[in-house]
Amino acid sequence: MKFFLDSAIVDEIAHAFDAWGFDGVTTNPRHVQASGKPFLGVIREIARLVEGTERTVSVEVNPHHTDPQAMVEEGLRLAALSPNFLIKLPATEAGFRAIPLLAAQGVRANLTLVFSAVQALQAMRLGATYVSAFIGWKESNAEETGRLIEEIVTIRDNYGFPTEVLVAAVRNGRQIADAAVTGADIVTAGFAVYQDAFAHPYTDVGLARFAGYWDQTSYGE
Ligand code: E4P
Repeated sequence: MKFFLDSAIVDEIAHAFDAWGFDGVTTNPRHVQASGKPFLGVIREIARLVEGTERTVSVEVNPHHTDPQAMVEEGLRLAALSPNFLIKLPATEAGFRAIPLLAAQGVRANLTLVFSAVQALQAMRLGATYVSAFIGWKESNAEETGRLIEEIVTIRDNYGFPTEVLVAAVRNGRQIADAAVTGADIVTAGFAVYQDAFAHPYTDVGLARFAGYWDQTSYGE
């Protein structure tokens, strides 16, 4: 399973690659705003971190676009900045229409803001490279999410679509494990979510306990 970092903070991204062996990055307007940097400046910085690798960076088009042609034009401009960039398009009629238009020009799309299996199916039919189902938002709205991911993976497998299922807006390690059990291809989450998920209080307790025994034992033969 691939792990992506959901962020536009360059130091966090570098850490995720160097220390955690991560496979890619997803950004969105909130992350770019939180970076405190201008959009083009920060995505160029992220592009430099992935240069010469297979890692992908999903970059979102202007959310005000309602015209597929405007999405395609911006998508082409962004994709020209780095071969690692995928273009994030919203699950709206304009976004769906932009998927094959970008694909025809060799640009991969990540269909974002997906909340139903049929939205995911439509994105797959039209040739999306990733479909991003936002489970955290659904859970905040008291909706179930496990079945949604199962359905998307099953639909993908039933028809042999090459699309990768990306579980997004992930809030904790339990959700990461559930996504893996379901057979999703990718999860994306914020830096702190992974930091917490990779740790466990018993690991710290156990290490302190073993250190105590170690200190009471001689090292020699
Ligand atoms: C996915 O690509 C999105 O950027 C992301 O997961 C959105 O979720 P958030 O609520 O954590 O910002």
